[in-house]
Amino acid sequence: MRKQIAAANWKMNLTLNEAESLLKNLAESGVSLAGHQQVIIAVPFPYLILAKEKLQNVYDVGAQNCHAKESGAYTGEVSAAMLHSCGIEYVILGHSERREYFSEGFEELAHKVDICLKEGVRPIFCCGEPLEIREQGKQNEWVEKQLRESLFHVDATQLKGFIIAYEPIWAIGTGKTATADQAQEMHAHIRAVFAKEYGDDVANSISILYGGSVKAANAADIFGRPDVDGGLVGGASLNAGEFTQVIQGLK
Ligand code: PGA
Repeated sequence: MRKQIAAANWKMNLTLNEAESLLKNLAESGVSLAGHQQVIIAVPFPYLILAKEKLQNVYDVGAQNCHAKESGAYTGEVSAAMLHSCGIEYVILGHSERREYFSEGFEELAHKVDICLKEGVRPIFCCGEPLEIREQGKQNEWVEKQLRESLFHVDATQLKGFIIAYEPIWAIGTGKTATADQAQEMHAHIRAVFAKEYGDDVANSISILYGGSVKAANAADIFGRPDVDGGLVGGASLNAGEFTQVIQGLK
């Protein structure tokens, strides 16, 4: 069975004390995971090493972004090599908030994907349509373009076991979750797009996470669909009890 993943995205939340206490609660409530299940906690940069330490042997830790260049005069930025050197193996790339508020485009994201793969940091690559595109019924084309423009220059061996997060923008932080049917429909489409480009073997190895107002009450239903391989969780990941129940919703 391909990896089933619950990933937490803390975004720009929590002070050090709050982060420490959430990490402690997560470590203490650590769920025993089956071999095909995984939990990744993506925290703000200043807490990465602390999170690694506190969640050792419990969950994996990820970053929420990195720069597209290897190193250099980019004040305030963090490179994939830095993440790797801190023992961080995962990074969220192309989150809709990065695309919208920091103008990250297809090409920049393609470079970020490349540098991460080169440095041995595995992307959780986000895609998803805004409300007006969903209302026009053009979400499949929209998402396919996001994948083609930033990912499909990568060769098949590097895409085996890749992690995608489908996050419809209208469902992020709004309390408005896509229905399990809507999620399954898009995830099946994404897998078909990979199959067309790279063949069934690669397509079936990819974990496609759903994101957008996932919480304890809806996780098991959404994750239960055949092409939904877990979730990327924002708001509900800031509470250890709630997030633990989300984890327990993994197949
Ligand atoms: P949300 O955020 O769970 O708060 O909707 C998800 C995300 O943006 O990753």
